[in-house]
Amino acid sequence: MPSSYLPLLLLPLTTLAAPAPQATFQPSPGNFPAKGDGDYAGGIFSIPLSQLPQYAGPGGTGPEAPTTPGQKTSGSGPYPAQMLTDTSLPGHTIFAPKTPPTGNISLPFIAWGNGACTLNSATYQNLLVEVASWGYVIAADGTPNSNSPTQSKVQDMRDSIEWAIAGKAAKYGNVDVDKITTAGHSCGGQEALSTSYKDERVKRVVMFNIAIFQDDRRYLLEAIKTPIVWLIGGSKDMGYTPSAKDYALLKQPKIRANLDTGHGGTFSATNGGKQGKAFVNYLEWQWRGNQTAKAVLLDPNSAGSLVKDKWVVEASGWE
Ligand SMILES: *[C@@H]1O[C@H](CO)[C@@H](O)[C@H](O)[C@H]1NC(C)=O
Ligand SMILES: *[C@@H]1O[C@H](CO)[C@@H](O)[C@H](O)[C@H]1NC(C)=O
Repeated sequence: MPSSYLPLLLLPLTTLAAPAPQATFQPSPGNFPAKGDGDYAGGIFSIPLSQLPQYAGPGGTGPEAPTTPGQKTSGSGPYPAQMLTDTSLPGHTIFAPKTPPTGNISLPFIAWGNGACTLNSATYQNLLVEVASWGYVIAADGTPNSNSPTQSKVQDMRDSIEWAIAGKAAKYGNVDVDKITTAGHSCGGQEALSTSYKDERVKRVVMFNIAIFQDDRRYLLEAIKTPIVWLIGGSKDMGYTPSAKDYALLKQPKIRANLDTGHGGTFSATNGGKQGKAFVNYLEWQWRGNQTAKAVLLDPNSAGSLVKDKWVVEASGWE
């Protein structure tokens, strides 16, 4: 397991002793709360960390897990990008092109949540710089290399969305707030899903290595109308079994793709590795109508398809 993931594993252990807050939401058929904030870090689709052992699965890594740390780059897209902080959005990190793209190109917006809902966004620098280099502005929860024990909440992701809608991201380019994606790894992915719950400003959700753990909350998916993509790490990943259940339930367009990495994914690889490639191609298809990118996801025979990259892809509901 790459050492960069140790913080993700250690954080739950160090916080296990903290008593779980008293839950106010009682799941029952027909009970659809007005908001996705829920009772814990990561929102209504997350769990208190003390419950993680019962959901963590077998653990371990698969052959597709990166074995050496990747290189820091400016991304492989047309707009060399960087990680920075911005005093207009405290407690967050921005990933954006170094120079605002010219030619009136519009930049879709992404709110990102980190694994274990930590406030350390630099863990995902390789992935998020890569995405930004294709012409995206991303606001991630937390600051680079934060070691705060506090976990992020839905309100942190909502703050990012409202910052963009208020026009405060305009210095990075022509941000299109009709194209908002929430995404994240592990607890941060659950936070992305929780943030999209009954918030129609969120148009796409991408869940990395995670899904809904609690069977008795899965019915809440019915309140989410956006397409959902799960990028999962195969049978060793704690997201494997629950993502199969969520995928089966969803009626709208959906993709569940598995690459045999285990829970840590390929974030630490150069440009976020194969998960970075899958994420970029999904975004470029959805937000810019790129049909080659669509084929990368959906057509196993296309050049550079996810299937050729050893992903196992399930998809349905797409035109
Ligand atoms: C720039 O693009 C936006 C849509 O992204 C469009 O509404 C606007 O008219 C464009 N402006 C120019 C000068 O082309
Ligand atoms: C469309 O996506 C493909 C595959 O990722 C990429 O190589 C190509 O540059 C994209 N085209 C445009 C116009 O962005």
